[in-house]
Amino acid sequence: MLGTKEMRTARLLLRRHVEADAKPLHEGFGKDPAMFEYSGWNPYESLDMAEKTVAELIAGYDEPRSYAWAIEHGGRLVGTIGAYDFDAEKNAIEIGMSIEKASWGKGFATEALAAVLHYLAEEEKVATIAAWCASDNIGSRRAMEKAGMVKVKTEKDALTVGDATFDKLWYEFRGEGAEKDA
Ligand SMILES: CC(C)(COP(=O)(O)OP(=O)(O)OC[C@H]1O[C@@H](n2cnc3c(N)ncnc32)[C@H](O)[C@@H]1OP(=O)(O)O)[C@@H](O)C(=O)NCCC(=O)NCCS
Repeated sequence: MLGTKEMRTARLLLRRHVEADAKPLHEGFGKDPAMFEYSGWNPYESLDMAEKTVAELIAGYDEPRSYAWAIEHGGRLVGTIGAYDFDAEKNAIEIGMSIEKASWGKGFATEALAAVLHYLAEEEKVATIAAWCASDNIGSRRAMEKAGMVKVKTEKDALTVGDATFDKLWYEFRGEGAEKDA
């Protein structure tokens, strides 16, 4: 098991976090409401919080089943992708990702996600890789589908962010043969 292994895709470098990531994560992610519109989750709200989050991610590398990559394009940090909550009994893990708004729609999420899904399935031998998103989060849905995940469950009105309520869509990557729900 190699944990958060450095990887290159056609355009991206996926690498381990370093302390210096805290500032760009606060500036590019923590200050932009578009980054947490569909999750309500903002661990980079202040520089302090971003530093604490990055320190926790770095400490997590001691546990090989805790995966956290910074996504770089052209030497700049443009996103994050990680996998967490490994369930040893089911050999399953959950994945999450974000791309700074200025870099949306360039296929970066799809490219990073495909690399991580194949790495976790083929090299780390994780049987089931799951992710969820709000039904209105079209970019996330499209990226997951293009990277080979299939929708397996819809939880009606299960997600509340501020005043908004969304259906919570669950996706899985199980290689060939995963069944789609209606
Ligand atoms: C979801 C997210 C990671 C997508 O990142 P991205 O790099 O823009 O995704 P991609 O460029 O790979 O896009 C995949 C597809 O979705 C489309 N897309 C991306 N953002 C979109 C948007 N806001 N509205 C409509 N379509 C969108 C792209 O055009 C592409 O479709 P296409 O291939 O048919 O042209 C990014 O929007 C994000 O970080 N959002 C905030 C955090 C978040 O919601 N994370 C996911 C939580 S589950």
